[in-house]
Amino acid sequence: MPLNYYIEAGGALSGNLRVPGDKSISHRSIMLGSVAEGVTEISGFLEGEDTLATMNALRAMGVRFEGPAQGKVLVHGAGLRGLKAPKKVLDCGNSGTSMRLLCGLLAGQSFNCELTGDDSLRQRPMQRVSAPLREMGADIVTARNGMPPLKLRGVSELRGINYAMPMASAQVKSALLLAGLYARGRTCVTEPAPTRDHTERMLQGFGYTVERDGNTICVSGGGKLKSTNIEVPADISSAAFFMVGASIAPGSDVTLMHVGVNPTRTGVIEILRLMGADITLLDQRNVAGEAVADVRVRHSRLKGIVIPRGLVPLAIDEFPVLFVAAASAEGETVLTGAEELRVKESDRIQVMADGLCKLGIAAQPAPDGMRIRGGAYSGGAIESHSDHRVAMAFAIAALRAASPITILDCANVATSFPGFVKLAMTAGLKISENLNRGGR
Ligand code: S3P
Repeated sequence: MPLNYYIEAGGALSGNLRVPGDKSISHRSIMLGSVAEGVTEISGFLEGEDTLATMNALRAMGVRFEGPAQGKVLVHGAGLRGLKAPKKVLDCGNSGTSMRLLCGLLAGQSFNCELTGDDSLRQRPMQRVSAPLREMGADIVTARNGMPPLKLRGVSELRGINYAMPMASAQVKSALLLAGLYARGRTCVTEPAPTRDHTERMLQGFGYTVERDGNTICVSGGGKLKSTNIEVPADISSAAFFMVGASIAPGSDVTLMHVGVNPTRTGVIEILRLMGADITLLDQRNVAGEAVADVRVRHSRLKGIVIPRGLVPLAIDEFPVLFVAAASAEGETVLTGAEELRVKESDRIQVMADGLCKLGIAAQPAPDGMRIRGGAYSGGAIESHSDHRVAMAFAIAALRAASPITILDCANVATSFPGFVKLAMTAGLKISENLNRGGR
């Protein structure tokens, strides 16, 4: 039976909540730990389907892991040249990060391998990594239109390039930097706007030199990674659902514990504050090279805004739930410069606009964004299109809906947020699984 959510209308959120570990940092900890020398100890690891897909791929290439158990993983690093030819196709499931970053890490190996994924991932663009990696000397064959599966043939060496990325993508930047570890000379990536910098930070944590000059980031091949300890903070992208929920539901007061607040990820906080949200960062600290804080959010009356374009890459995964904030705000919110949303786990502009319209909200999609007029809305049945963040965003919308919301096809929430339903219930959301009482 497909997994659906049923959420009663109304309620408020409260309490101290700890959401699971950061997905981006968890992926990178497994990848870098695998090619480091020595044993890397990870705590706070996200045991979600996406990060487990990365782990399984590296296991298939001979890396030994202990765990995960309660977020702890020991990675027995194989060294940069220690990965072995996998005996099977590497299945990245729903995870774009697994596929793009692994493509970079594997582009310079001496063996052949193949990366594939689920129906959603097999429709996502991969030429954004395959094209620059080919310039570095990689031998990568994609399927139709540059989509997965990706067939990589072994090469003896890559060469460093200077690459100006056409889009602001941390995945592309990371893929090239990882390939750069295997390249002769320097690999430099220039980004059109800042994107999440976990790869750069973590490489340095593993003792690897990363140079940065403005928007250009460079690594030189031929070095080594030394094992380290990594403490993964709670994922701000998962915390965002509760930040918006507490902001829109009268009487709410939540504190999200130990959240990663790396400045390349805090666009959601900045956008919500511009809308009038009441958000306080408590006990700001630095944990293993990443900024961390407890984030207190209390209800407030949100107003519509024009979202500054510079904040878009810094909040790229939070737009589904930010659209719900906009629907619950007074006045109009306008998003532009966000065409990347069309190539995420679903076309998040179209899918979110369709869902909001179904609830009675005036949401007009545009090629690169959306215009949303906030107001009262009803419940109804929403198609998540198997997109985890769409499913969770509409679950949060129920806090302000006039009648219950049913969300169809929510199994993929487990890719990024195992335990979402339980935590949301603890916080006060009236959510249950597999009850389809909302009707279609
Ligand atoms: C990610 C980067 C972002 C983001 C994805 C995770 C990463 O993708 O949407 O969920 O871990 O590097 P893009 O870099 O393609 O925008």
